[in-house]
Amino acid sequence: MPELHDELAIRIHDLVVGFGRQTVLDHLSLDVRRGEILGLVGASGGGKSVLMRTIIGLIRRRSGSIEVMGQPIGGTHDRSRAATWGILFQQGALFSSLTVRQNVQFPLRENLTLSQELMDEIAIAKLEMVGLRAQDGDKYPSELSGGMTKRVALARALALDPPILFLDEPTSGLDPIAAGDFDALIRTLQKTLGLTVFMVTHDLASLTTVCDRVAALADGMIVAIGPMRDLLQSEHPWVRAYFHGKRSQMLQSQMR
Ligand SMILES: Nc1ncnc2c1ncn2[C@@H]1O[C@H](COP(=O)(O)OP(=O)(O)O)[C@@H](O)[C@H]1O
Ligand SMILES: [Mg+2]
Repeated sequence: MPELHDELAIRIHDLVVGFGRQTVLDHLSLDVRRGEILGLVGASGGGKSVLMRTIIGLIRRRSGSIEVMGQPIGGTHDRSRAATWGILFQQGALFSSLTVRQNVQFPLRENLTLSQELMDEIAIAKLEMVGLRAQDGDKYPSELSGGMTKRVALARALALDPPILFLDEPTSGLDPIAAGDFDALIRTLQKTLGLTVFMVTHDLASLTTVCDRVAALADGMIVAIGPMRDLLQSEHPWVRAYFHGKRSQMLQSQMR
């Protein structure tokens, strides 16, 4: 059944993206529903980050259409959409010369004209929202643990209260406890703020416990999409290998 447009946060139709002679995304179509957490899996180098960057207008597409919250996305970066999405890039480093507070306030400074007092209040509210304390605002990125760094980056991504959050492998590099805490935080924020979350991840625990649906990217297309239990039943060779290969079987048996 075709989805109603206004129930969709992101609508991608027949998207082609490539570099030189390489085609990365090959007539890819994908719908992300409002308020859902969608997980995206795919081989390394398969185009997951390229897809995310194309949606937000950082990479030019060859053809196809993209709509975000009902508005078409142009071919290149569209600054007016800054409040539509928050982004945690894969190499999403904080600005090392700025304090945590200044990092969180960065999008506010770039996009709004607010008093310092109000910006300080907003920074505290955002830090508390992601489970940090007001006094963590004085720290510098080099003084933070991996889990705290991700939380600060998340607070910065949510500074402008965007309805959509993009996460590119947010739990990679975190220990399992920090990763589990981060997943729980994403779930809580999605519930309390009604966020739509588009999350690239290899983390089977995240896919199983946090994602409402999972999409698999292979050969430049979405070859399977649905709740995790449906993906586990998929007949597609790459999806089968991904979820039923030796390594993932071992992990899944350990998770039970
Ligand atoms: N800016 C770019 N210029 C040229 N090639 C790129 C660029 N960004 C990504 N690629 C290529 O596109 C392919 C997909 O990359 P990427 O989306 O980063 O993969 P992943 O699924 O691991 O996130 C890779 O072959 C990569 O080398
Ligand atoms: Mg990537």
